[in-house]
Amino acid sequence: MSKVLKRTTSPYVRVEDSGIHGMGVFARKRIPAGVEIIEYVGEKITKAESERRAEIPLNQHKKDRTKGAVYIFTLNARYDIDGNVPYNTARLINHSCSPNCEAVLSSGHIWITALRDIQQGEELTYNYGYDLDSYEDHPCRCGAENCVGYILAEEHWPKLHFKKKARRPRRKLTHEEIVKRQEKNASLPRLPFVVVLDNLRSLHNVGSAFRTADGVGLEKVWLCGITGFPPQSQISKTAIGAEQVVSWEYEEDVVSVVKGLKRQGYQIVLLEQTPQSRDYHEYEPHAPVCLIIGNEVDGISESVVPLADYAVDIKMHGMKNSLNVSVAFGIAAYHIGNRLRDLSV
Ligand SMILES: C[S@@+](CC[C@H](N)C(=O)[O-])C[C@H]1O[C@@H](n2cnc3c(N)ncnc32)[C@H](O)[C@@H]1O
Ligand SMILES: [Zn+2]
Repeated sequence: MSKVLKRTTSPYVRVEDSGIHGMGVFARKRIPAGVEIIEYVGEKITKAESERRAEIPLNQHKKDRTKGAVYIFTLNARYDIDGNVPYNTARLINHSCSPNCEAVLSSGHIWITALRDIQQGEELTYNYGYDLDSYEDHPCRCGAENCVGYILAEEHWPKLHFKKKARRPRRKLTHEEIVKRQEKNASLPRLPFVVVLDNLRSLHNVGSAFRTADGVGLEKVWLCGITGFPPQSQISKTAIGAEQVVSWEYEEDVVSVVKGLKRQGYQIVLLEQTPQSRDYHEYEPHAPVCLIIGNEVDGISESVVPLADYAVDIKMHGMKNSLNVSVAFGIAAYHIGNRLRDLSV
């Protein structure tokens, strides 16, 4: 029968629920720097056994994040300590990117030692020192100001730097930064890409299309049929000034506009559900491109359809059959604009 070992204790600690993860170990009283607080004990195992065991809790942890992932500790070149035993109170100490303790190996024993003075009630933590192998399986929730987002040895932190910056926006752009970007964009050439608004009923949709055209960098907006044109307050309401910076032209006859563009070499693309329509992101544009969007109810005029080289649509995955026209234009226009930019570099 295996021996039932008594749970380790220390006058310095008590176990409580942790804000970091599951249970944690807290300072029962003030602990001066350098004090050996509690020993990290467990089963002494070979490295081979250690590798085998490390897989088991890691897999459990992937299924249930409330279960601790790794309890194994290096003792020396041949042996490790598996601290995943109920009598090892120190196994409950959580990791932090700004720890107040460290694990110190001395004469074949591992001691959790205070790195600095620790106040009564503070949670004890140390850096688990995991390597880079599978750091993404170990997200860190230590809450420290300098938290790098993963349980990871400090020596590897510089390699995370890029990812950390990309994932954690800490502020919005300042007004000055936005103005600088506007100035830079104003000097860039527009894309060889125009849109034809064919009989749009809503002036709000017209304004919204202007704003998207500006954002994507379109060369021109053509307004045809019943489509309203600036200046009109309802257009300005959604365009918010974009109607003053994007060049535009009104012509009643949509067919003559499209024929003219075709003569100039524009590839004519319908944003419309037709039996031949392809998913918009499969479309590889050939500059210059003319995208046509149609009336909110009736879609693109029948007379324009035969002039088209291509038709794209946006797959619907819900109850409704279509998107709002200006939303659909935004999706398709950004795709085409991005592809044209990719192709021009
Ligand atoms: C040795 S246990 C620590 C005790 C654990 N709180 C418990 O209740 O079992 C180690 C595991 O706790 C979790 N853990 C410890 N520190 C963490 C932290 N800073 N962020 C997220 N999880 C942490 C991880 O699942 C880790 O694999
Ligand atoms: Zn952290």
